[in-house]
Amino acid sequence: MVKAVVAGAAGGIGQPLSLLLKLSPLVDELSLYDVVNTPGVAADLSHISSNAKVSGFLPPNEGAKAAFKDADIIIIPAGVPRKPGMTRDDLFNINAGIVKGLIEVAAEVAPKAFILVISNPVNSTVPISAEVLKGKGVFDPRRLFGVTTLDIVRAETFVAEIVGKSNPQELTVPVVGGHSGETIVPLFSKVTPAVTIPDDKYDALVNRVQFGGDEVVKAKDGAGSATLSMAYAGYRFAEKLLKAAKGAKGLVEPSYVYLPGIPGGEEIAKKTGVEFFSVPIELGPNGAEKAIDILGDLTDKEKALLETAIKGLKGNIQKGVDFVHSPP
Ligand code: NAD
Ligand code: LMR
Repeated sequence: MVKAVVAGAAGGIGQPLSLLLKLSPLVDELSLYDVVNTPGVAADLSHISSNAKVSGFLPPNEGAKAAFKDADIIIIPAGVPRKPGMTRDDLFNINAGIVKGLIEVAAEVAPKAFILVISNPVNSTVPISAEVLKGKGVFDPRRLFGVTTLDIVRAETFVAEIVGKSNPQELTVPVVGGHSGETIVPLFSKVTPAVTIPDDKYDALVNRVQFGGDEVVKAKDGAGSATLSMAYAGYRFAEKLLKAAKGAKGLVEPSYVYLPGIPGGEEIAKKTGVEFFSVPIELGPNGAEKAIDILGDLTDKEKALLETAIKGLKGNIQKGVDFVHSPP
């Protein structure tokens, strides 16, 4: 029996993500938590004639605790999204506290759950989550994931447009690093099957992958950021993880993880100089079974992108760690 939780379930990502989970044969129990509107979202979804049993929870009282209790997977898109002119880091002041509070509950009532953090800034909210879990003595790095799948989804789509591939999902386009602007590093030299990106299109393509989120924020014009593509991306990651947990082999998806705690990750952490970093992760029954090093044989342009990304990530990671140890 698989119990899945969405925290932030009434929001722009939360609702379509909950719909996808309700449709999944991999989920038996779907628990929806938000500070508003979950009874309505749960009632609505509960009329769909699929397997999962749906419940909605609100604060105060035991809302989050009851929602999270004994969960197998907790997906967190709770918090505020960007408006035009904002960076993801501008969301830190509000979202850091929201994520910290939710992880404290998860640590208490579902310490073995896979935790998928969507709330921005992911570069900092994942280190916050790790520090909270460490403090509670229940940190298993193989079970904590920053969801960067939307960067991979975008990279697949934009590369396919340029190389004229009709089905973007036939491409595997690795994107490493973090999840904001220049910390996002697409590695077009490692696409399989191999593609050739024309020189005159390379810089614009990198920029589009790095700033795809801004494209949506601008188009939504004050009404938020990516929600539907994110719900798809979050579901894609969750589905792979649940399949791997049930024994499916060979499932790989990049994710922003605590590298030193994952087999193969220590070497990548040494190479990059950062402990939190997104690389392709082989998924298995315990979550992240192996971090795959694809940072060898990069082109000069990719090496330069990586160097810039690492500089940005160091500050984002430290900010998250400091938030837990010396709260403002
Ligand atoms: P939204 O405002 O539509 O929804 C957020 C939901 O979180 C709301 O329903 C709100 O009530 C709820 N919420 C607030 N505080 C909460 C708490 N303490 N506990 C539970 N729920 C709480 O926003 P959205 O568009 O769904 O985006 C959510 C977050 O996801 C934002 O931080 C956004 O930047 C981020 N995001 C990340 C990615 C990614 O690739 N990782 C992609 C898109 C958006
Ligand atoms: C995205 O990449 O779409 C999300 O991180 C949301 C944002 O703020 O751009």
